[in-house]
Amino acid sequence: MKLPPTLLAAFLLSMVTSVFGAENRPSSAPLVVSHLRCEGLDAPTLVDTPAPRFSWQMESAERGARQSAYQLRIAEIRPHGEAIDPPLESPRITSDVSQWVEFPSLTVKPKTRYQWQVRVWDHEQHDSGWSAPTPFETSLLGGEWLADWLSDGHTVATPTPDSDSHKKRPPPPPAAARYFRKTFDLPNQPVSARLYLSAFGLVEPWINGQKATNDLFLPGWPDYKIRNFYVAYDVTPLLHSGPNTLGLILGEGWYSSWLAGGQAGPTPKVSAWIEVTDASGQKSIVATDASWQWAEGPITANGIYPGEDFDARKEDAAWCQPAGGAWNWQPVKVEDKSPVELNARISQPVRRIEELKPISRKEVSPGVFIYDLGQNMVGWARLKVQAPAGQAIQLRFGEMLNPDGSLYTKNLRAARATANYIAKGQGLETWEPRFSFFGFRYVELSGITVPADDAITGVVVHSDLPRIGHFECSNPLLNKLYSNTLWGQKGNFLEVPTDCPQRNERLGWTGDAQVFCHTANFNLNCGAFYRQWAAALRDSFDKNGYANVAPKVFNGSGVPGWSDAGVIVPWMTYLHTGDRRMLEENFEIAQRSIDQFANANPSGLRVIKKGFGDWLAPGYPAGKAPTPLALIATAYFARSTELVAQMAEVLGKPEIAAKDRALLETIKTAFQKEFITPDGKVSSEEQTAYLLALGFDLVPAELRPQTIQHLAQAIADKDNHLSTGFLGTPLLAPVLSDSGLSELAYKVVLQDTYPGWLFSVKNGATTIWERWDSWTPDKGFNKDGMNSFNHYAYGSVVGWFYDTIGGLKLDASSPAWKHFVIAPTSGGGLKSAKASVETPYGRAASDWKIQGDRFDLAVTIPANTSATVHVPAKDSNAVTESGQPANKANGVKFLRFENGKAIYEVGSGTYQFESKAK
Ligand code: BGC
Repeated sequence: MKLPPTLLAAFLLSMVTSVFGAENRPSSAPLVVSHLRCEGLDAPTLVDTPAPRFSWQMESAERGARQSAYQLRIAEIRPHGEAIDPPLESPRITSDVSQWVEFPSLTVKPKTRYQWQVRVWDHEQHDSGWSAPTPFETSLLGGEWLADWLSDGHTVATPTPDSDSHKKRPPPPPAAARYFRKTFDLPNQPVSARLYLSAFGLVEPWINGQKATNDLFLPGWPDYKIRNFYVAYDVTPLLHSGPNTLGLILGEGWYSSWLAGGQAGPTPKVSAWIEVTDASGQKSIVATDASWQWAEGPITANGIYPGEDFDARKEDAAWCQPAGGAWNWQPVKVEDKSPVELNARISQPVRRIEELKPISRKEVSPGVFIYDLGQNMVGWARLKVQAPAGQAIQLRFGEMLNPDGSLYTKNLRAARATANYIAKGQGLETWEPRFSFFGFRYVELSGITVPADDAITGVVVHSDLPRIGHFECSNPLLNKLYSNTLWGQKGNFLEVPTDCPQRNERLGWTGDAQVFCHTANFNLNCGAFYRQWAAALRDSFDKNGYANVAPKVFNGSGVPGWSDAGVIVPWMTYLHTGDRRMLEENFEIAQRSIDQFANANPSGLRVIKKGFGDWLAPGYPAGKAPTPLALIATAYFARSTELVAQMAEVLGKPEIAAKDRALLETIKTAFQKEFITPDGKVSSEEQTAYLLALGFDLVPAELRPQTIQHLAQAIADKDNHLSTGFLGTPLLAPVLSDSGLSELAYKVVLQDTYPGWLFSVKNGATTIWERWDSWTPDKGFNKDGMNSFNHYAYGSVVGWFYDTIGGLKLDASSPAWKHFVIAPTSGGGLKSAKASVETPYGRAASDWKIQGDRFDLAVTIPANTSATVHVPAKDSNAVTESGQPANKANGVKFLRFENGKAIYEVGSGTYQFESKAK
């Protein structure tokens, strides 16, 4: 038998003696424990809780394999790397729980490295033996921040926030980056050194002439009025005995951006320290303080929206070397302590993830070259040129081209989105920006007469979240739509979930985020990303509700469909990941949000004056779509109330849940009275009105069939096209499928004429457009400046690709895929489809094919989980599994035959169902 790589690795591991001794025993069955995660991450940078939670996967070739017990082991790692003996061992615990497990009575120490192991027993008491030891490191755990905060001493006045300021205010000229430095002596070679780092602004740390990390946009983007983040790095290999230099390059970032007028203040500040331990265990600290110096260097301008300017003639490699350098070094100003709490960042940082080579280069006017990367992407271009000293080279970025082939930049609005480079004139020069990013497919290069083909490389940059989902089907246009959505997520998951990556917004618009959250959780592992962003949602909360953008950089809150992100994102992420802390941390304010709505609207009908409505529904100016605001507000009020009630149930608060459920009934009654007619029509008769009523379960059961018919009619009235905006669109395909109208769902999804998803695909889109008509062959670009070509909201249909076409459905009563449903829905002429997700327990997959009247369905259920599988069939006798009648197959239990599907309960394993569907 050929062992899968992890099984093989475990076998080999069992042959070697671990640091814990010779206790590993190969199991008698091939049972392996793998994918060890602390706080949900394979490699958490800092664990910021005294009671970390541990997760693992069990792998077994046996069908129906379940965990029956586990044991944990943990040990501190000394600076030298050897574990402290003896490790702490839990008793053997009888349980099938393998996610988010706390180590009984363990409290970890701050600033300490640990390694942990787990061992599991399956349902037949096979023993996996101890896993490989897996390390993690703890944060300061609330301990003191030991360094001063430094700035260059200039103060810039803070503009006042207002909701539209970003559109009206002209951007000031971008500032130069500040370089900070300090040289210090170490008497001995350190055995361990940790750099703790934070900034109001963005910081890139250097030690002795080398970058201390490749992580980008540090320390991240919190709501600076409430908190800031810090990060930590092991910098031991960069230090030595004798003189060393720590250098910090400080950029403007989000903190000082002119857009962020509502934030604490625009002068960036930095703070850092290195904690050094030598061989004798002696600790010393090198921290930012009044003895540091600062200077301007080659980054002559920087900012998220403007871009970056770099004068390579000013480079001085000695700036971060003990020998010093030629710049005009000046004393720093020591600023007040951080006015807000500092938290270890818990989400993966932004990193360079992949590179794209141009597919073409054209000289569009003399000396102006356009490089096409073939894909709308986010990040920047790496420039590689040979030019005389002082030569000014410019890079501009655009998502589209004008009809004459020049760069289309109108949709960038006030974002300068330009990089300027002045050559040093010393052979081949390579440069990339670091404190800005751009949303683009095309790069315009000017200032160089004959650039090389490889002068430009696209560097794709985003939060480094692991890809966990895959989807593919027999329709290439749907596959392209899937790919466009994935690229939309990559481009807009840069530190926070943003609306768009290119113009003068790039903000955590909460409505966009909530409609995309289910899809996002399928594509990438977003657990820590959303948990971190949820803090910004909580921080944004005010008397009206959660804000329209989080971090809250300008006023505006409580808008239906936007404010609800504070409830929907934590709940949805909890369902995908099983992380209860998502609920524990967010419940209180989520509850407050519905209480506030309830107090202001005792009848249950939420009447408000302002909102965005069904944003950008086709055919209407922004904010003017016809679905009534009160209908949207009341429907979302119901939705949030229902989810908060579910949160309360999970968290063991039955009285609160009962109170919320009573409120839900009041809202439903009010909704029905106000908006539903006795013949099941929803007033306004817009698709979105029907979708909200049906999707949020607001229609009385007896009227539902009629309401569904009215919805079908509203779609037929549009020639089977959608008429939905940001709020209606995500519900369209799911509601139709759940209402028994899958063929209609396919029909609408497959429309390739305006307005429809495949319209943009047919017209060359490589990401999701903000508007259904961002560009049309007859009208060209939408006249409105608000016209992004990378807005993921309409990509929310991809959740339906996974859970309905592929059929991988979460079971809300069993989060994290512990139990789930596989119910593929064919249609739309598809011959095959496959969907898979790396769930917390392992890979879940569905892969179906239609051949004549045969329906083949291969499914994979991870060990320690189970699934209910729906196989389309003409009757229950028409189904086999791996050649056996399905109801007799090993590990398969026939449940019932219903609506043309034979339904089975299966344990873990892979299964091949074949059925006669007709
Ligand atoms: C953003 C949106 C957002 C909307 C709400 C726009 O400017 O780009 O995606 O949700 O404003 O008004």
